[in-house]
Amino acid sequence: MSGKRKRYGQYFTPGLISDFMVDLIDHEKNCRVLDPAAGKGVFLSSLVKKGFENIAGYEIDGSLENKSQVDIKNRDYLRTSLKVKFDVIIGNPPYVRWRNIPEEIREDFEKEYWENKINGLSDLLYSFLFRSVDKLREEGELIFLTPTFWLQNQHASSVRDYFIKNGYLDLIVSFNEMKICKNASTSYMVFKFIKDRVDGEKLDIIKIRDKRRLNKDLIQSIDELIESLRDKNKSVKEKGIKAFSRDQFSSPNQWPLVSPENKEVISKIEESCKNYSPKVEVKTSSGNTEKINLANLYTKYDLKKIGRTKDTLNKVKMDNKNYYTELGQKTFFKYNKPNSINKKHKRHIRLGDIAKIGNGLVSGLDKAFKVKDIHKYSQKEKQKMLKVVKSSDLNRFYNKSKTFYLFPNEIEKEETLKKEYPNFYNKLKEHKTKLEDRYDYGKNIPWWHWVFLRNWKLFKTSNHKIFVPSKERVNNKGFVRFTYVQGNFYPTQDVTAIVKRKRFNIDIKYILGFLNSKTLYKWILEKNPKKGRVLEFPHRPLSKIPIRLINWSNEKEIQIHNEIAKTVKTILEEKNWKKHIDQIEKEVKKLTKTT
Ligand SMILES: C[S@@+](CC[C@H](N)C(=O)[O-])C[C@H]1O[C@@H](n2cnc3c(N)ncnc32)[C@H](O)[C@@H]1O
Repeated sequence: MSGKRKRYGQYFTPGLISDFMVDLIDHEKNCRVLDPAAGKGVFLSSLVKKGFENIAGYEIDGSLENKSQVDIKNRDYLRTSLKVKFDVIIGNPPYVRWRNIPEEIREDFEKEYWENKINGLSDLLYSFLFRSVDKLREEGELIFLTPTFWLQNQHASSVRDYFIKNGYLDLIVSFNEMKICKNASTSYMVFKFIKDRVDGEKLDIIKIRDKRRLNKDLIQSIDELIESLRDKNKSVKEKGIKAFSRDQFSSPNQWPLVSPENKEVISKIEESCKNYSPKVEVKTSSGNTEKINLANLYTKYDLKKIGRTKDTLNKVKMDNKNYYTELGQKTFFKYNKPNSINKKHKRHIRLGDIAKIGNGLVSGLDKAFKVKDIHKYSQKEKQKMLKVVKSSDLNRFYNKSKTFYLFPNEIEKEETLKKEYPNFYNKLKEHKTKLEDRYDYGKNIPWWHWVFLRNWKLFKTSNHKIFVPSKERVNNKGFVRFTYVQGNFYPTQDVTAIVKRKRFNIDIKYILGFLNSKTLYKWILEKNPKKGRVLEFPHRPLSKIPIRLINWSNEKEIQIHNEIAKTVKTILEEKNWKKHIDQIEKEVKKLTKTT
């Protein structure tokens, strides 16, 4: 079964969802309907139940039992030449990663029809989306249950473009992490697309935010929210569900499901983080130094947005990181006045510009190294312990606890360990076989040493750090735990550390206040590449977070900076953020011009 599931993307839809989707059909009951990937026929049964008469179903796998009354044709939807078109195409098409797509189907993608649509990084789902748009009659409705990844995935931009060019989205219901199909762990959505090139149609979005169970009550709530959006045309919230209408997506770039209010906040934050950009020294490829506006140093990911390619820009280095920019002396570009193009193409300043970001240390076997009863150890042993902060030690602003770990990495001989650090030896010895197994990759690491001391020097030499959990579940608290850690504390592997670069003359407590503000949380919530409801904070997503730098010749901005830093200092001293968070919020709002 699992082989076929992989090849054909076989995940079966519950009747509650297929009934709900069939109810979204606006065509008359005698319209021509197709389920192109019918499986065992759950959509066909819902269609019959609701009185539809002209139903067709295709399914590539002839061995599946048809549980509906409709005859399912065992056909490959992608390779059958279909002369007719349909009023409604409905179903749950397969999603299969490129490497798992059956060879014969992959070969078909070499045909001209698929050119510029499908490439070696596409999912089988994309081909179903293209073909289904094609096989709809004018004003036809496409109603699919799919994973949400194609809204964001870079390699699905051709699909999004095709949708924009051929019609409009009428509805998206995003179920988040809710279990919809058995055995599938993906975030699902239902969407309805209309093949009609009209302007000004609104897109209704229903987002289920909290973890909910799929049941009749939930479906009823969704139905009611759809109704009320249509009647009142304004955002509504109800028990963990958010509903709003927005304009159609106008570009094939990512399609985040952001409400118009949040979209405005996000663009204000980004704009404000372009407002002040200091000049920084960069090294050119010929070894000279130049001063460039930080907002005009582009990473390779910015280039598409600003409509430029690497070869029309100069490669420079700042803090050993590569950037692309336009140096004043370039002549082959027609608008060659330094800064004339640059002003237009400022990008927002990011955390990755002003701070080094690194993953925490990996012991190899936490159970072996984590200290439980510290009083058992001698003074000498205590000195060879490492103070670490784990994700569970983090709080908003300050850490609520710390953890001690054995750290005998400087001890080279087993004999010394045994004699001089007997409690270390005894504890570690219990795990000796496991440790030896783990370290058996030719690195010749003694079994009592830690394995990956990533970023060791960085953590050792910096006295002020901000720690954040590498993964943080979205919850009602409405914040991410950015925590200030002073002194000799190290992050473990479930924590990512942020260390401000010295060249930026800004208080780390100000940065902490900014990161912990609700305003910035709105940005994070929309822009972080979440997995379901879990925010991900390895290096890249963290480095993209906008940071508002301070214009030191503007008295007002200096005041705001100092006020935020002072308030954070008080929070750290009193260990009470609840009392002071509103003050920080107020100041961040002034700086980002959000209300
Ligand atoms: C996600 S499952 C959904 C099945 C059914 N519609 C349901 O919702 O229960 C996708 C189905 O598409 C079928 N399939 C995969 N590739 C196909 C193709 N090229 N043509 C037709 N069916 C295909 C799979 O065998 C699988 O049954």
